[in-house]
Amino acid sequence: MSKHGGREQLSIPGPSVMPEAVLRAMHRASPNIYEGELINMMDGITAGLKRVARTKQGVAIYIGNGHGAWEAALSNVVGEGDHVLGLFNGRFGEGWAEMATGLGAVVEKLDFGKKAPVDASKLEAALKADTQGRIKAVLCTHTDTSTSIRNDIEMIRAAMTASGHDALLMVDCIASLGCDRFEMDAWGVDVAVAASQKGLMVPAGVSFVFISDKAAARRAEMKRVSRYWDWAPRANPEMFFQYFGGTAPTHHLYGLRTALGMLEEEGMEAVWARHEKLANAVWAACEAWGADGPLKMNVASPAQRSCAVTALHVGQPHGLNLRRWCEQNAGVTLGIGLGMSTDEDPKGEGFFRIGHMGHVNPQMIMATLGSMETAFEAHKVPRGAGALDAAVKVLASSGA
Ligand SMILES: Cc1ncc(COP(=O)(O)O)c(C=O)c1O
Repeated sequence: MSKHGGREQLSIPGPSVMPEAVLRAMHRASPNIYEGELINMMDGITAGLKRVARTKQGVAIYIGNGHGAWEAALSNVVGEGDHVLGLFNGRFGEGWAEMATGLGAVVEKLDFGKKAPVDASKLEAALKADTQGRIKAVLCTHTDTSTSIRNDIEMIRAAMTASGHDALLMVDCIASLGCDRFEMDAWGVDVAVAASQKGLMVPAGVSFVFISDKAAARRAEMKRVSRYWDWAPRANPEMFFQYFGGTAPTHHLYGLRTALGMLEEEGMEAVWARHEKLANAVWAACEAWGADGPLKMNVASPAQRSCAVTALHVGQPHGLNLRRWCEQNAGVTLGIGLGMSTDEDPKGEGFFRIGHMGHVNPQMIMATLGSMETAFEAHKVPRGAGALDAAVKVLASSGA
């Protein structure tokens, strides 16, 4: 078997597959950065970003990856010595909190393990216990890409409101934006961070911080904010260069304009429904495989799973064999397990992830699942029958 002679497919959870239209939009000479088209397209880009995040409040754009957006967001509202409460159910929740520690914040933690979403009652209790109001912000992922748990942001906000606490709700939507329903304003999110390379279908390198009016007011009370990370001029620029604190990420902007146009044309409700359907097809196949073999989805309840990524455990040596076979023989790259090492499996190679985010459709999902079935067969991995059939039934049905 050889992967040569056809297209290769990236089924990792970001960077995701880029549409040809995005690639074509970027394939051009550098533009004038002082006047003309580039400047004129910024209103459309910021309006498009806000439509995707469902907010009418502010947005700042950064040249940087998701880590950059994490630091940018924190730098505007969390000062040295301030307390933040980190809600953990995977590597990325932990990573954002580590960044807060690096900026001199005191991190308090609620750890929900690697299989369950945030328990809102525990959050409410923790905030009620903070009688002096020391906690300035609650940090949480919408989807933690390492575990594929999707947290219920509405419920988290409700718990914060019930506690009577004034902390900001800061949400990492890096994996979920443009994949899972996210409603910044309706859900009462104060700060949301996102990046270009997943549901937004653009290369890695630009990231976004969405800013509520409450968060903007907090920023105004800060003693100082690093000049480069300061979101105030970026969200309300008087001159073009202030959007980016220097030279614009010109080609990312062309790609982003095209990608936002594609999302707009499809409609956010349809984009979310597509991701839900494709995720359901993946899960149906995984259920069938798991019925008579070692494969297990990391998150048991479908309601708690992300529609952008599915984390799975198949044990060793199957995990590594499966990924290797798919990449080397079928041209399909699956995601590695991240932050899932155990004493028996110190490299966490028994885990892997399927990315189904962004520019994906049924034929791509069937290619990934079909390649996995073939890899299982090649390595004689025990598994239940009918996985592809189960996926087909979901895709052929009219519901989600
Ligand atoms: C949920 C989440 N947060 C943060 C990050 C970090 O983003 P980046 O790798 O672009 O710095 C990622 C990357 O995969 C992510 O999935």
